[in-house]
Amino acid sequence: MTKRLLQALAGEAVWPPPIWLMRQAGRYLPEYRAVRAGVRDFVALCTTPALAAEVTLQPLRRFGMDAAILFSDILILPWALGRALDFVEGEGPRLPPLTTAAEVDALDPARLPAALAPVLETIERVRAGVGAAALIGFAGAPFTVACYMVEGQGSRDFAAARLMAWREPALFGRLMATLTEATIASLDAQIAAGAEAVMLFDSWAGLLPPGEFRRHVIAPAARIVAALRARHPAVPVIGFPRLAGLLLGEYAAGSRVQGLGLDTAAEPALAARLVAAEVALQGNLDPLALLAGGAALAAETAAILAAMRGRPFVFNLGHGILPATPPDHVAALVAQVRGA
Ligand code: CP3
Repeated sequence: MTKRLLQALAGEAVWPPPIWLMRQAGRYLPEYRAVRAGVRDFVALCTTPALAAEVTLQPLRRFGMDAAILFSDILILPWALGRALDFVEGEGPRLPPLTTAAEVDALDPARLPAALAPVLETIERVRAGVGAAALIGFAGAPFTVACYMVEGQGSRDFAAARLMAWREPALFGRLMATLTEATIASLDAQIAAGAEAVMLFDSWAGLLPPGEFRRHVIAPAARIVAALRARHPAVPVIGFPRLAGLLLGEYAAGSRVQGLGLDTAAEPALAARLVAAEVALQGNLDPLALLAGGAALAAETAAILAAMRGRPFVFNLGHGILPATPPDHVAALVAQVRGA
């Protein structure tokens, strides 16, 4: 029996649609906070397979989601390439800002197998326990990962990274090329360890003007999809070029992803017209509507379901679940989608 998520990603209009939520494992769950309280830091949680596997499975136990997403982070890749990484409580990630050619040249793909070994062990453990749910592996897309590496932290506009791309295109291009190949290596290894689909998170893609979007978002995604498809033809890739706006159709056609994650601002019916009918759309409930719950949540959910009925679709949020979300609202959402 094919898993429902994989059927949808293969282009079938599975109904009711499969559902999972970005950041479904996390601080809004008391059982996650209990595990998190027992570890030194977030990187330790990501690299301790027994604990990472446990928190990956928590939302499945509670809500019966159609997919588990590996518990890790997009910034584990730069960490595995040799950059320091710290998550400051309440403030987000901190990395030493990468600014020089010597620092780009020092990124070391030879470190990946050993550094990523705990992540692959997490995948093996989760795969053994997912049952009818599908296991999704992931990576940050090269542009979004480069944003954090150059900036050193979160930002409204990632001006440092985008300035490097304008002022020192050869250097930024080398960073992007290294990240693209490392992303392929990571996702290839995740699939070999048991991931049944993979997702590419390009959270800051929407900051770029069209030419830069083609160069730094579509081209690397196309390279990653082609390399993975050559090695694992049956494993689908979900792209998430957040805030791609009018370039959504060009991203889907150019990257050749099988699934396309829609952000909160995307109009589902318009997105459906911009991409080929066999591409599964995924999304795109406002995380704040989920936090609010009640009539607003029910109405928004119904509108998305109505727009997506009859095409391959995966119900999800338009961005990650917020820490203040009441778990009961997630249970109500799952019940409504299952009753569609
Ligand atoms: O459940 C899941 O979705 C799987 C695990 C996952 C995490 N981060 C865990 C996490 C995934 C897929 C991510 C992706 C991620 N990480 C993205 C892309 C998606 C997006 O949200 O745009 C980005 C940009 C990051 C980088 C990142 N990691 C930031 C900016 C932060 C701090 C903000 C925050 O929410 O705390 C993190 C930390 C992080 N990653 C947490 C979790 C559960 C919280 C850490 C904690 O427990 O203290």
